[in-house]
Amino acid sequence: MIDKSFHIITFGCQMNVNDSRWLELSLAERGFVKADTADAQVVVVNTCSVREKPERKVAAALADVRRVTRADPKVLVAVAGCVAQRLGEKLFSPEGQVRLLIGSDGLIRAPEAIEHLLAEPDLRLSLLDFTDRYEERGRMRGASGPVAQVNIMQGCDNFCAYCIVPFTRGRQKSRAAASVLEECRARLNEGAREICLLGQNVNAYGQDKRGDGVTFSGLLACVAALPGLARLRYVTPHPKDMGPEDVSAFGDLAPLCPRLHLPLQSGSDAVLKNMGRKYDGRDFLNLVERLRKVRPDMALGTDIIVGFPGESEKDFEDTLNMMEACEFVSSFSFCYSDRPGTRAALFPDKVDPAVSRERLARLQTLQETQTRRLFAKRVGQKTEILIEGRSRRQEAGKTSWQGRDPYGVLVHLALSGNTDYTGKMVPVIITQCKKHTLMAQQAGGLW
Ligand code: 5AD
Ligand code: SF4
Repeated sequence: MIDKSFHIITFGCQMNVNDSRWLELSLAERGFVKADTADAQVVVVNTCSVREKPERKVAAALADVRRVTRADPKVLVAVAGCVAQRLGEKLFSPEGQVRLLIGSDGLIRAPEAIEHLLAEPDLRLSLLDFTDRYEERGRMRGASGPVAQVNIMQGCDNFCAYCIVPFTRGRQKSRAAASVLEECRARLNEGAREICLLGQNVNAYGQDKRGDGVTFSGLLACVAALPGLARLRYVTPHPKDMGPEDVSAFGDLAPLCPRLHLPLQSGSDAVLKNMGRKYDGRDFLNLVERLRKVRPDMALGTDIIVGFPGESEKDFEDTLNMMEACEFVSSFSFCYSDRPGTRAALFPDKVDPAVSRERLARLQTLQETQTRRLFAKRVGQKTEILIEGRSRRQEAGKTSWQGRDPYGVLVHLALSGNTDYTGKMVPVIITQCKKHTLMAQQAGGLW
């Protein structure tokens, strides 16, 4: 075991990835070093409980940590994130490895708690309380890289019938606009060229009682105007909260990329109503049309749940039809999973899991066909790639690099020389499409 060393295992969404990155940098600032699980003095498992399957993965990961560290009681194991919040003190293990629980609002106190617990081997700590305002963590120092993820809020107030997030991440709390802008500026100064604003329901930003009067579109315009910014994105918006200003921003703000992840969840009006989504199919299509009017090349992605309680074959077909009508270029799709404490967990008419799985397979086949068709249209197009790093693909005499186009698609391209191209913007022509990625050739000077 290496003294003052840590290992973080992360599951779940981009918010978790960002939280883990913050913890990693904070521990490094306090003199901790990264290590493999087998050598680490502190192991943090940052968890997700959005569905049952990721929650099972957490249990498996904890068992793995125990095995790899040979249950050494000197190793401090912390459970962070949504599972910690949901299961609470049940996670403290009798043999003593799990001695720290970190909820989303408790993360800021985690580095100090870790140091404290290393000094006090008999102590356990639980940082699961919710705070009633956004806990300002300060900016992430040393988080270099061309893409900066910047948190703008915590939690969610929507209580969609299936969703555990409002219970595990708490009510919506907006971060002060000045802090968001300060972090964006600092990240741009450190070399970032793209900013992605993060939150559970970003376009409701500023509309909670902790908001400071700045709306989401106001914040977006301020970020878009920052010097040095080449690209701007955000995840995740809620269709019901996409106001006219959020739509027109795609035409007005040059750095805002023509790519939006817009969770549909279902294409059936009856299912959407039961989910409590507060829009119907027509509202959604109308939004898609308005977005494409402003940006005809707008690439849309989505989330879909199949087999929500009461979903009939006809409801499911409505979802397939909507998928086609919206021409999503990608989608994350899931079988409905009961989450304890949510309204839907109590709904009757649960769909047979075999039927859900069969629907999921049909939906994913449709998505693959759609993606292939939309990708094929891209071959021959000119675009720009922001290089994120080296790619594993190789071409004789050249190094292969990967990055994203403005539509968020991963693109591979070969570039000559031994230069580090990370963070460079490369004009290219798309030459080939694969199942999930595109291939390209340089077609102009880097900037
Ligand atoms: N069952 C299945 N999928 C779910 N999601 C959220 N809760 C559930 C659930 N109980 C999906 C939604 C959401 C994505 C992050 O996870 O599609 O947008
Ligand atoms: Fe969950 Fe709905 Fe909030 Fe998204 S908007 S986090 S699905 S409650």
